Amino acid sequence: MKLAQPLLFAVSLAGLSTAVILKHSSQLKKSYDFIIVGAGPGGATTANRLTESAGVNVLLLEAGGANDGVLEIDVPQLCVTLTPNTPWDWNFTTVPQDGLLGRTPPFPRGIGLGGTSAVNCLVYTRGTKSDIDTWAALSGDESWGWDGVLPYFKKSEKFNLPVDGHNVSDQFRAEVHGFHGIIGVSVPGAGRATDDRVIAVTRELEEFPFQVDMNSGEHLGIGWTQALIDRGVRSSSKAYLAPKYLNRKNLDVLLHARVSRVLPTDGALLLKSIEFQDGEGGELKHLTASKEVILSAGAVHTPVILLHSGIGDSEVLTPLGIPVLVHNPSVGQNLTDHVGCSITFEVNSTKTLDEVWRKDSLKDALITEWRERKTGLMVDTSENQVAFLRLPDDDPIFETHKDPASGPTTAHFEFLFQNGVFPTKDSGNYFNLPVGAVSPASRGFITINSSDPFAVPLIDPRLLSEDIDIYMVRQGIKTGQRFVAAKAWDGYFIRPLVNLTSDDEIDQYIRENAVSFFHPVATAAMSPVNASWGVVDPNLLVKGVSGLRVVDASVVPRLPAAHTSAAVYGVAEKAADIIKATYPELFSNHATVKA
Ligand SMILES: Cc1cc2nc3c(=O)[nH]c(=O)nc-3n(C[C@H](O)[C@H](O)[C@H](O)COP(=O)(O)OP(=O)(O)OC[C@H]3O[C@@H](n4cnc5c(N)ncnc54)[C@H](O)[C@@H]3O)c2cc1C
Ligand SMILES: *[C@@H]1O[C@H](CO)[C@@H](O)[C@H](O)[C@H]1NC(C)=O
Ligand SMILES: *[C@@H]1O[C@H](CO)[C@@H](O)[C@H](O)[C@H]1NC(C)=O
Ligand SMILES: *[C@@H]1O[C@H](CO)[C@@H](O)[C@H](O)[C@H]1NC(C)=O
Ligand SMILES: *[C@@H]1O[C@H](CO)[C@@H](O)[C@H](O)[C@H]1NC(C)=O
Ligand SMILES: *[C@@H]1O[C@H](CO)[C@@H](O)[C@H](O)[C@H]1NC(C)=O
Ligand SMILES: *[C@@H]1O[C@H](CO)[C@@H](O)[C@H](O)[C@H]1NC(C)=O
Ligand SMILES: *[C@@H]1O[C@H](CO)[C@@H](O)[C@H](O)[C@H]1NC(C)=O
Repeated sequence: MKLAQPLLFAVSLAGLSTAVILKHSSQLKKSYDFIIVGAGPGGATTANRLTESAGVNVLLLEAGGANDGVLEIDVPQLCVTLTPNTPWDWNFTTVPQDGLLGRTPPFPRGIGLGGTSAVNCLVYTRGTKSDIDTWAALSGDESWGWDGVLPYFKKSEKFNLPVDGHNVSDQFRAEVHGFHGIIGVSVPGAGRATDDRVIAVTRELEEFPFQVDMNSGEHLGIGWTQALIDRGVRSSSKAYLAPKYLNRKNLDVLLHARVSRVLPTDGALLLKSIEFQDGEGGELKHLTASKEVILSAGAVHTPVILLHSGIGDSEVLTPLGIPVLVHNPSVGQNLTDHVGCSITFEVNSTKTLDEVWRKDSLKDALITEWRERKTGLMVDTSENQVAFLRLPDDDPIFETHKDPASGPTTAHFEFLFQNGVFPTKDSGNYFNLPVGAVSPASRGFITINSSDPFAVPLIDPRLLSEDIDIYMVRQGIKTGQRFVAAKAWDGYFIRPLVNLTSDDEIDQYIRENAVSFFHPVATAAMSPVNASWGVVDPNLLVKGVSGLRVVDASVVPRLPAAHTSAAVYGVAEKAADIIKATYPELFSNHATVKA
């Protein structure tokens, strides 16, 4: 009798795990209504919402593994160790960047459940009202504006109070947040030695106003970081694939299943079939959805899959021997990304994260505290405050250049305020200030140079290819120098690690050090139904074919002045409602969006 209980437990666990994630492709059902490719914010959100209706069968395919129980993923403060070139990264670099003196910086993309949201740095920012309103203008569909998307931002969000229980009434505005969604969002749960000084600057210098909530549609100023954290733990798109959702009998997930192409089904332009590699190095297999294939492979892989499927510029496809299904020169184009670099200062304090990165004993103690109580410095991401700032309206650059920001209250550059530098130095303590251009004018592209669907794609964000972009970073660095010169910092800074005075010196430093800020979008952009450009229509259906939709960062037609995962959750929540409305017979109990 004593054995009975453990045995039962073991049996039910095994039963649970087969229901959760398929162990083998032989467990695939005969048919699925929707096949979704990629388990990042786009794919996981869509899979979750579509399977709210019991009558709908969904298969989610992910090229990577489950990424379960990985400490570095779960502990927010360890986000800096997750890329590049780790088991959770696709390990891409850009092609040589002229704007960066020919350098080829890393271009990390997450692989595995959670996609890039499992390896990113957790900052939750939506962009401004005018950023999102641009989506409506570009797509010709009013519902893609701020007012139409805000309910979906809220729907995805589960705002939670910080783990240290401090009073947050001055740190965010409850009315613009969702409290019953799925991804956790929180303000910092542990104070840092620099917090008071950063906030004091907002009272001292007019050019750095305090911003209570940069997710309210307005974002200018310095404010408390809102991050994708749920009670001290990273909240990635895996939250949409939590056991209670994976237990749904109508949701199957197959891992290590890398999609190579979308294939014609019956008619030449009905694309509801996919070809995928079954396991790493495994054989290629085919599956057909009864309703749709949904590509959520992210801003790099979605255009790559389209190109290998014959949807793209015939001038690229024909020389590679890829038969052209739809000649569409927009596929992979318009890649927009943020770019920037850090300025670092040595400081007269030992209360910085440098101590933690240098001393294993200190780090281990903090990780133990995190494991046992989910408190302490490990519960937060790299910065407790963020700033979004603009060039002055009368800046001379606007005499010769069009303002690339979406509107008069959208930032040109961003600061992250980091109490310590990673990787740190052998000695010394530091304050690190990443400065990024967040309304860039440069546009790049993703393309292929091989007919092998698994060959490494060519990633060319053309960082700093427009001179106003380096101008924004340069002016951002000068603004950062004014920030550290505030009285609030008296006695704190010892010296900058690099002396940057003349414009030429600063520009050279930027070209030598700038990297992608990892926010690529627009490579399969939304545009009006009959537009001469664009890849998907406002319902996110791929133009020129049927049965194929895209739900991920690639459809975002214009990069918000913000870190991008919030945008993708919002897009995917809205996409799920669009799909539900398309098939009323399948989604009869389709509920309308609630915040
Ligand atoms: C280092 C870094 C830091 C970042 N920091 C932030 C931040 O602080 N805040 C923020 O909001 N955003 C941040 N981002 C960006 C953010 O994570 C992305 O914008 C977001 O994850 C994009 O979601 P997605 O669904 O479009 O694609 P992804 O999250 O990239 O998901 C795509 C998924 O598809 C899978 N896939 C790809 N190809 C195939 C295939 N052929 N077959 C099957 N599966 C496939 C991938 O493995 C992946 O799981 C950061 C990104 C990086 C790299
Ligand atoms: C990226 O590199 C790491 C470290 O070498 C490796 O473990 C991982 O498998 C690579 N990722 C891919 C997708 O090949
Ligand atoms: C939090 O602070 C605000 C003002 O700063 C105050 O009005 C409010 O009562 C405080 N809330 C709690 C729960 O203490
Ligand atoms: C890029 O996007 C812009 C709109 O932002 C559009 O006018 C242009 O045609 C697009 N270019 C391509 C090649 O799709
Ligand atoms: C550091 O601060 C202490 C006072 O806290 C001061 O005595 C010392 O001179 C400072 N050092 C530097 C290098 O500024
Ligand atoms: C494709 O591009 C990669 C990376 O730039 C390069 O190594 C490779 O030689 C190119 N292949 C062809 C066929 O041009
Ligand atoms: C920066 O300039 C100061 C004063 O001009 C000088 O003392 C210092 O050595 C310089 N530091 C570096 C890193 O060049
Ligand atoms: C697109 O063009 C077609 C054919 O010219 C036309 O019938 C249709 O009404 C147009 N749709 C929109 C939304 O303009």
